[in-house]
Amino acid sequence: MAAVPLLDLKAQYAPLREEIAAAVGRVIESQRFILGPEVEALEQDVARYTAVRHAVGCASGTDALILALAVLDVGPGHDVVTTPFSFFSTASCAYKVGARPRFADIEAHTFNIDPERLDAAIGPRTRALLPVHLFGQSAEMDVVLEIGERHGLPVIEDAAQALGATYESARTGAVLHCGAMGRIGCYSFFPSKNLGGFGDGGMLVTSDDGLAERLRELRVHGGRQMYHHREVGWNSRLDALQAAVLRVKLPHLDRWSAGRAENAARYDRLLAESGLLETDRVRLPAREARARHIFNQYTLRVERRDELKQHLDAAGIGNSVYYPVPLHLQECFRELGHREGDFPEAERACREVLALPVYAELEPAQQEQVVGAIVAFYRS
Ligand SMILES: Cc1ncc(COP(=O)(O)O)c(C=O)c1O
Repeated sequence: MAAVPLLDLKAQYAPLREEIAAAVGRVIESQRFILGPEVEALEQDVARYTAVRHAVGCASGTDALILALAVLDVGPGHDVVTTPFSFFSTASCAYKVGARPRFADIEAHTFNIDPERLDAAIGPRTRALLPVHLFGQSAEMDVVLEIGERHGLPVIEDAAQALGATYESARTGAVLHCGAMGRIGCYSFFPSKNLGGFGDGGMLVTSDDGLAERLRELRVHGGRQMYHHREVGWNSRLDALQAAVLRVKLPHLDRWSAGRAENAARYDRLLAESGLLETDRVRLPAREARARHIFNQYTLRVERRDELKQHLDAAGIGNSVYYPVPLHLQECFRELGHREGDFPEAERACREVLALPVYAELEPAQQEQVVGAIVAFYRS
């Protein structure tokens, strides 16, 4: 049987080939590669899409997080409360501004930060809260925002995996985009994201005019006027070529995310029919009622994860472990003094999670093949 890739970007690209070639050609003809009108147009598109006042392009999702902390004056002597179960940048960004991450364990069912533990993790040096909308599903933002307000702390949303995901507030009834709920939201355009570029790229969104203005300076060496620097910033600009590609792709984002959600529902059904759920060998990703999950990843919890992974690898079924090591146990953070057992839910997730192919172009027959291989493993 043919292999099933974890992600098939060629299938997404094929129908857009000519439109993308024209957009890229337009930038090449203009010979304007750094920021400029193409980036400004994408910023306006994303601001409109997420219903915020400002969007500021930058070089990556990692840089978006660093710039967000910097513009809120988080620095040496401060800490940032975040989750230990995420991509590395969620914690490294604090280090990059001289601060430290301070972790709060996750909820077992959503993999997102547990708001009650977040509250307890806030200390005298805490200057920001950094929830992640992991795998494309919103964190419990009503509670996170209420905690932020109560402590007078800004909320920065790591929405790197969640552009297009939404959350319906029980407090206000409003349906808001992930990234648009806190003071600043951070997106990544890494190629494997639901909206992926042809290389690295990132964006910040905020409805605060002052923060947006300063972010536009911080991304270009701390000054809007060339060779005049009001503060020490970064070189973190979004390329016009990336912006041109992303502008072609953005109108398709909701359809792609809906396709992923449909595929996720099909896996749920196939796995339920397989009987594996009854034996608890496989547990499905939980959906929060008020969150629109965009399934950047479809992540199961499974028994004998590493053996299953080997079995799927051998069968040519794409899969991946996001993430094998929790952030508090990363070697580079050893000075934080954490040890195994400090955040048991994150550690358990690292032992049990396995992501399956869920991209929009995946065929039902391929999903049956994936589930068939999982069933065969547990039957053998
Ligand atoms: C949760 C999370 N935060 C931050 C990032 C960093 O984004 P980038 O790879 O664009 O630097 C990623 C992307 O991999 C991510 O998944």
